[in-house]
Amino acid sequence: MQINIVELTFQERKLIQKILNMTESEIGLGEVLLNSKQYKQFIKSQKKLAQDYPLDYLLGDIRFLDKKFYLDETVLIPREETEYWVKNLQETIEKGDLLVDIGAGSGVIGISLNGLFKQVCLVDVSKGAINICDKNIMENDAKNTQAIQSDLFENKELKNLINNTDNWTLVANLPYLPESEKKYKYDNNVSWEPDIALYSGIDGLDLFKKMIYQLSQLKLPDYIYLELDPGNVDQAADILTNAGYETSIRIDIYGKNRFLVGQR
Ligand SMILES: C[S@@+](CC[C@H](N)C(=O)[O-])C[C@H]1O[C@@H](n2cnc3c(N)ncnc32)[C@H](O)[C@@H]1O
Repeated sequence: MQINIVELTFQERKLIQKILNMTESEIGLGEVLLNSKQYKQFIKSQKKLAQDYPLDYLLGDIRFLDKKFYLDETVLIPREETEYWVKNLQETIEKGDLLVDIGAGSGVIGISLNGLFKQVCLVDVSKGAINICDKNIMENDAKNTQAIQSDLFENKELKNLINNTDNWTLVANLPYLPESEKKYKYDNNVSWEPDIALYSGIDGLDLFKKMIYQLSQLKLPDYIYLELDPGNVDQAADILTNAGYETSIRIDIYGKNRFLVGQR
């Protein structure tokens, strides 16, 4: 089947590149030939795009800063706010022995920062996310990085790792939207992303509060770096201050208060 590239949308062109395993310049702007299997795959993907299914899930991988990461429907598609934050952290985060990335999803945060720590642990409650993290650890040859399935800090292996290290740093982009936002899932353009990656109780802070409580039962991290909803970052800062941390709030690319840093 012949397809004229100039007649395709940007997203469709990306699909063709993926299906033919060719770069944009190799494809050019002329006609391409798809065999029947490739054509069926293209039509199937086109139908999904028409239902607002995310291109990133169809392609199966993204670039985050300078690295390639696999992803699928079990994990959130990393946001540009997170990418901007992690780029900033690459220059400003205090280096240390152990970095624990709680709610790791595809592992973009922990893996992008792994050069600054002796050991990195990617933690997620979702088995699907852990499988993706393992793939991304391999893809990025992240030898000092491991993935552990755990509900926050419940896992024994994780607790031991933390309690037996000299110093450790916590980074987390946990779900932070209030449950009431679920009814706007379609309008918010997150219909295809997993609820477990998005919502966290009435005020969006359930998991954050549970995490701070669990931390009080562990050896405390020296530094905490969190991504939160601009609507609840002040409340989270008060909770972290009460837990004994000096806190500061940082803005995202749109000038919104989204990041919280805690130092003991
Ligand atoms: C907002 S996503 C962030 C994913 C990734 N860190 C990123 O920035 O793209 C939140 C992640 O937290 C995970 N999560 C939800 N509840 C959790 C829990 N109780 N313990 C650990 N991880 C959890 C979800 O599975 C999801 O992967």
